[in-house]
Amino acid sequence: MKKILILSVISTFTTFISSCGGNGTSQDVTLNSGPSSYDSKHGAGKFKDILLDEKLNETMAAAGNKSFVAKCAACHKLTEEKLVGPGWKGVTTRQLPSWIMNFITNTDEMINKDPAAQAQLEICLVRMPNQSLSDEEARNLLEFMRRNDGVK
Ligand code: HEC
Repeated sequence: MKKILILSVISTFTTFISSCGGNGTSQDVTLNSGPSSYDSKHGAGKFKDILLDEKLNETMAAAGNKSFVAKCAACHKLTEEKLVGPGWKGVTTRQLPSWIMNFITNTDEMINKDPAAQAQLEICLVRMPNQSLSDEEARNLLEFMRRNDGVK
């Protein structure tokens, strides 16, 4: 009896999901801000093209290291291994600097809109809380991530 109940809940749920995705045609035509207009390269936020020196800025990376310990290390490892959030190894090759800067300063909007952030959320099952970083802190953290990815 219990089994049947669970099965019927599941099938109701699947029907619900498929009916959500299935009939968007009339809406797609009228909406002018569909998923295609979202800039998934840079993400949502004020950062667009960030000019980086090829060479690492050690001072900034050291400051970023401090912020990492204080504000990020509880949830992120520097390896590829997931803790609460994804491991940081390789993040600067997966995403553009502007995407990273937008994500860490504009976290809520990014999680709401960005396909890559949403995919991570599905794996991690935790929403990264906004860390209230200043632009400078965010930039230092980016430099620290670059160092972690081998930039010298
Ligand atoms: C409470 C846990 C938590 C804290 C603290 C935290 N994060 Fe996250 N972070 C997450 C989770 C969970 C994700 C996965 C994305 C999501 O939430 O949708 C994530 C994703 C990320 C990503 C994207 C990684 C990728 O591979 O796509 C970056 C970059 C990031 N966090 C940076 C930071 C920075 C910088 C700090 C510190 C200032 C920080 N996080 C603090 C939980 C956390």
